[in-house]
Amino acid sequence: MVLFLKNKIVVVAVLLITVLLLAQCSNSEKQFYSEEQVSEKAATAEASCEKKPLNPNGDSELAILMRDMMSSSQSLKEKIKQGNLPEKFPEEFLKIHTALPTDSETKKESFEGFASNYISNLQALYHSPKEDLSKNYNAVISSCVSCHSEHCPGPLGAINKLKI
Ligand code: HEC
Repeated sequence: MVLFLKNKIVVVAVLLITVLLLAQCSNSEKQFYSEEQVSEKAATAEASCEKKPLNPNGDSELAILMRDMMSSSQSLKEKIKQGNLPEKFPEEFLKIHTALPTDSETKKESFEGFASNYISNLQALYHSPKEDLSKNYNAVISSCVSCHSEHCPGPLGAINKLKI
């Protein structure tokens, strides 16, 4: 009888400890990820292409170039919406052909074709008459979209928002 009672106490104690541990776990999970943080994380994941947080070499040459292309497109969009011709052609974007990606396998065979298409659309935009600016600008963004559909779908949502 005494033994039985002891067993019962052990069972209750184990149950109590389990419940306490579970409660703590779910509490600390809430502490680590508030809703805001979760959506922040999702936004970062959307903007970058399979970003590896532990990349010892930092961001790749191509990733940095792409970020410049992104911000340049954003200001280009505003200018063109106001009917202004873009200034000097951004020579630095010609580096798209040679810039090294995060992963050597990122640039698949079709990369060069997409890259040339992007550059020639960009050149056409910088030579376009005022009335074709929006159309030619959207063609540039479409060439970002084409390449990204095959090479790096992560930022597609953000790129599509660049269209006029
Ligand atoms: C020829 C293919 C190609 C074209 C054209 C292209 N991209 Fe990219 N983009 C890539 C690849 C590949 C990566 C991944 C780079 C890496 O991880 O090293 C990338 C990455 C990105 C990133 C994420 C950068 C980061 O922070 O890691 C953004 C944003 C982006 N591109 C925007 C654009 C925009 C805007 C355009 C058009 C103005 C564009 N891309 C045109 C292939 C392309």
